[in-house]
Amino acid sequence: MSDHGAAARSALAHGAIGVAGSPARSTPVALSVKAHHANADDGRPPAHMPTTGALVDQYGRVHSDLRISITDRCNLRCIYCMEEDMTFQPREQLLSFEELERIARIAHELGVTAIRLTGGEPLVRRGVVDLIARLSAIGFADIAMTTNATRLAPLAAPLKAAGLTRVNISCDSLRADRFAAIRRRGDLATVLDAMEAAEAAGLAPLKVNVVLLRGINDDEILDFARFARATGRIVRFIEFMPLDAPGEWNRGRIVPGREVYDVLNASWPLEAVDEPGRVAPAERYRFADGIGEIGLISTVTEPFCGTCNRLRLTPDGSIRNCLFGDDEHALRDLVRSGCDDTEVELVLRRAVWAKYPGHAINEPGFLRPHRSMSMIGG
Ligand code: 5AD
Ligand code: SF4
Repeated sequence: MSDHGAAARSALAHGAIGVAGSPARSTPVALSVKAHHANADDGRPPAHMPTTGALVDQYGRVHSDLRISITDRCNLRCIYCMEEDMTFQPREQLLSFEELERIARIAHELGVTAIRLTGGEPLVRRGVVDLIARLSAIGFADIAMTTNATRLAPLAAPLKAAGLTRVNISCDSLRADRFAAIRRRGDLATVLDAMEAAEAAGLAPLKVNVVLLRGINDDEILDFARFARATGRIVRFIEFMPLDAPGEWNRGRIVPGREVYDVLNASWPLEAVDEPGRVAPAERYRFADGIGEIGLISTVTEPFCGTCNRLRLTPDGSIRNCLFGDDEHALRDLVRSGCDDTEVELVLRRAVWAKYPGHAINEPGFLRPHRSMSMIGG
């Protein structure tokens, strides 16, 4: 076996992996490289893992963004995410609000500044406004939510008042019949109304997530650009990722971000929005005439692992350090056993320390993760 650890260290030495504060966007290391030693769990912190200071991994990436999936349930059944017939986790396996609040507070003490609630669909969980209020009281700089918006309109103002800062709304087609075909439930008009309600409540800037699927909605790229220009909403085109429950993902169904760029740029020239020091997966572009902005999230064809600063908490209380790996660090039973905060802190530190330098989607032999998107949290 080759020394993967050495390969990773050498890549790091050559600056191939972006570190906190670096604008590096790609990760030209062998993406199947695995963290070499962090996972052995003998109860002691791994050698060299810091036990004070920020949540940092072996490649220098500082983790300040926690995505919390508060339920694996959803009232829609998008074809790129769910099967028609899904089995959901029993409610008692989900973290309670008290448990979520505690983990979030400890993460905040370790330097996490941004929270995003996801699901499943976060707004199907009862009491979500109360949860936002609890999280807001902790003092995060940013509390965002990714939602399908079918239940957002009446909740937008209370959520904002409770401390939610912004929302990303999923909407994969601007044609009602096609919207229905992709999402299998819900309807476009409700989602468009919810976008207005969100803006009226001050949940801004509004981002609209579009998962592009080859042969299904890839002829709407320019329509979405017009929509972005007309409304000021930031439309983000997302590559289809191998996280669909039906397991139908394949490369041929991806619409690469580069292609989206070319289509848009041919109609309305684009210019990159430069934000030194910003860490985010979306490449931001504004239209050169100054009207409107779009984002490209090219997770598969142009991985941005080198600057990844994200951690995920699954609905059943495990920390995941990557969407595309099966590495999980269970917290729920620990928390329920009456542990103290330092034990939770150690699990968070271990989870970050164990993070691989990059995902392996483009490597031969890549195996998709066992959990699909709604069970992880996007
Ligand atoms: N590929 C890409 N994006 C996905 N989402 C759900 N499943 C997939 C997938 N297989 C998106 C949703 C939402 C966010 C939470 O993740 O559309 O915008
Ligand atoms: Fe529900 Fe979001 Fe999955 Fe669609 S993508 S089924 S809205 S969780």
